Amino acid sequence: MTDSSSFPADFLWGGATAANQIEGAYNEGGKGLSIQDVMPQGITTPRTEGPTDDNLKQVAIDFYHRYAEDIALFAEMGFKTFRFSIAWSRIFPLGDETQPNEEGLAFYDRVIDECEKHGIEPLVTISHYETPLHLTDTYDGWVNRALIGFYERYARVLFSRYGARVKYWLTFNEINSVLHAPLMSGGINTPQNELSKTDLYQAIHNELVASALATKAARELAPNAQIGCMVLAMPAYPLSPDPDDVMASLTTERTNLAFGDIHVRGEYPGYYLRSLRDQGVDLVITDEDRTLLKENTVDFVSFSYYMSVAETADKTKRVIGKGNIMGGVHNPTLEASEWGWQIDPVGLRIVLNQFWDRWQKPLFIVENGLGAKDELVTVDGRQTVIDDYRIAYLNDHLVQVGEAITDGVDVMGYTSWGCIDLVSASTAQMSKRYGFIYVDRNDDGTGTLDRYKKKSFHWYADVIASNGVSLTR
Ligand code: BG6
Repeated sequence: MTDSSSFPADFLWGGATAANQIEGAYNEGGKGLSIQDVMPQGITTPRTEGPTDDNLKQVAIDFYHRYAEDIALFAEMGFKTFRFSIAWSRIFPLGDETQPNEEGLAFYDRVIDECEKHGIEPLVTISHYETPLHLTDTYDGWVNRALIGFYERYARVLFSRYGARVKYWLTFNEINSVLHAPLMSGGINTPQNELSKTDLYQAIHNELVASALATKAARELAPNAQIGCMVLAMPAYPLSPDPDDVMASLTTERTNLAFGDIHVRGEYPGYYLRSLRDQGVDLVITDEDRTLLKENTVDFVSFSYYMSVAETADKTKRVIGKGNIMGGVHNPTLEASEWGWQIDPVGLRIVLNQFWDRWQKPLFIVENGLGAKDELVTVDGRQTVIDDYRIAYLNDHLVQVGEAITDGVDVMGYTSWGCIDLVSASTAQMSKRYGFIYVDRNDDGTGTLDRYKKKSFHWYADVIASNGVSLTR
């Protein structure tokens, strides 16, 4: 422990969530169905036709009714910011209507009221894996350019309603994940194995144009707002010093970096255009699209970071292991979580430096955390979880954030993923817990939904109160 902080005084400490993973109330308040209502097992099985009772997200952790209690707990930890997403289908139940659902808008007014009451800055994701189902079923999601207009209308409603109260906005969660999870990330109904590369990359292009249009709308309607892109960061290290492995790792990293390049520089990089040509992809890109991308670049770059992977050009060694949505080649130097995600705190410092060197834009770590099984125990008459493993994970990553700041990287803040236990995105489990707050709900849907503070709750409160000085180095 050192006695001076490397974190700036205005560092935005907090936690992150997404509507579909916490709210529940899937058919209340005029909400329409979203793709999450037909994904009871996350991305591990194909979608269902309609909603099914085994879908934990129908109730999730009931944040829709318990938001005040939960935000008060975040405030107790000293959160400066709270990242949540707005469920598109609460605002536009079908997605293609012209008039928004007032009851949905009023819900987020109340959430923002609670944040303001506690001096917590809201950080809002406009679209986090919850495309209205109607847009998926009728338009095949983002493959269809019509979604650009529907999203723009939705974003404009949000900026008009909340723009004076919400400063930080993210356009699409982990936009690069469309490449790997087209339904969850792009609302694309066509099964992945039948989806053409041209349709997939067109969907990505359509999202990028929509992101630029939202940025443009924010400048008009919410001039004090700052707009960020959000990418899934996963460094890919060469498995060996063989130059072919180094080139392979660069190529893999560029499948993620391209998204930051386009959001920050406003144009497709040459390596991305080459990759499209090599894959025989022919996109519809209008002159207006090009102008929009160029003129509406982001204010900051946000990203999720859970793990790194290795990469190799040697096909016999290229065995893809588990990991956040895409996974990668196993790195023999690293340990893994219970779900096989390889733990690499130094990778976070590497990503921060790489992104800063590349884009010179403020960076915001909007997801990082450890999914682990927790056991509720009684200590001094209170129920809690002794989650030293989670504390170790977060501590070691935050130490590396401090190092990156000392390296000169401009880091705006850090929101730990799943600051309260929630339903996992990839596997739709409750038992994959990330929170500082334990929620009594099990994979079979049983449980009281009561909240309990874990050991990490108190640990994180100390980290925030000391602005990182209490971290163990
Ligand atoms: C990110 C998503 O990919 O990782 C979150 O933005 C997700 O929605 C998080 O929950 C952790 O992944 P998982 O599959 O463990 O929930």
